[in-house]
Amino acid sequence: MTSTRPASDLSPMQHAARLRDTVVAWRRHLHMHPELSYHEEQTAQFVYETLRGMGGLELSRPTKTSVVARLRGLHHGPVLAVRADMDALPILEKSEVEYASRMPGVMHACGHDGHTAMLLGAAAALGELRDRLHGDVRFLFQHAEELYPGGAEEMVAAGVMDGVDMVIGSHLWLPMEFGKVGVASGPLMASPDVFDLVILGRGGHAAAPHETVDAIAVAAQVVTNLQHIVSRNVDPIERAVVSVTRIAGGTTYNVLPGSVELAGTIRTFDPALRDQIPALLERIVQGVTTAHGATYTLKFDRGYRPVVNEARASAFMRRVVERTLGGETLVEARPTMGGEDFSAYLQRTPGCFFFIGARNEAQGIVHPHHHERFDIDERALESGVAIFIGAALEYLSGTRAA
Ligand code: NI
Repeated sequence: MTSTRPASDLSPMQHAARLRDTVVAWRRHLHMHPELSYHEEQTAQFVYETLRGMGGLELSRPTKTSVVARLRGLHHGPVLAVRADMDALPILEKSEVEYASRMPGVMHACGHDGHTAMLLGAAAALGELRDRLHGDVRFLFQHAEELYPGGAEEMVAAGVMDGVDMVIGSHLWLPMEFGKVGVASGPLMASPDVFDLVILGRGGHAAAPHETVDAIAVAAQVVTNLQHIVSRNVDPIERAVVSVTRIAGGTTYNVLPGSVELAGTIRTFDPALRDQIPALLERIVQGVTTAHGATYTLKFDRGYRPVVNEARASAFMRRVVERTLGGETLVEARPTMGGEDFSAYLQRTPGCFFFIGARNEAQGIVHPHHHERFDIDERALESGVAIFIGAALEYLSGTRAA
């Protein structure tokens, strides 16, 4: 903060370094005050007030708990959108850090507090660099990433993507060591569809199974047979997950229940395969229940679309990471079967979603996303701020056609 050089002379990394303490403080404040999806009232207010304090930004509230800031460059050019999500999870935090959640049962266990802080940092820095921007930056502070149908779709419907030429976003990423940034072209995150299944048998005395249709025994057969979808029906080169994640039935030792409830998730990248799996699943459920004299009800719900990065946007982000943080930082991102509603923005315009390594084995920062002891290596925040600044300066440098 002691530099006397004009802001426009600093590199993205120097800008991020100047803002280091501020961004960490923002992240910790958000971490202490987490809010659940669609209820980010205080968070959105904090973001709004912080952005307003920076000056020079056009602010709007596209939905009740989201915020958009528009930064107009001094020169004409394209529009780059940068997105951060802001919601927390219904988890009781177990870590003993001083900035642990003050809200019992609610926790920023996915790093969205960091995403929000990084984007605030980028807005603060870029606000001082309007003279270098040939075009606009649109900062999207999105609500409700964690809960389907998700905030991204609502923000798109509210028009936040109108006129946008490229959209980028990132996730602080615990599978990846701090110091690495992962970019990939093509499919990166899966579509998380779900199903609810009820096996309907005929209940009765546990000592007289021949007088019942044992829904528990049938449910067990169904679960086992569903494993065949991925192992036997899906092309081994394709990627898919079919997991039963909930099973509930019965109340005591001497009663066979009349029904068993199951629920689960289906994860795919390929749209054709995504359409195919429900039929394969129902064929198995129908076959197994019929074989044992049971019946069923089955319901599918589609989740977010897969996140598929556009080739040119990915190449652009690779270049930005290399120039901003150095070539040794850049790695190929490994696709994950997790879902992300960032895909809603990609329906409207090409873009790239990428991972910022935030793991630190030496400091014990190793707990996975959605874990009660989740944390990040906060140095990753500085990397994220620098990348966003670098991306905006590069994309809006005036050397590309609008
Ligand atoms: Ni997340």
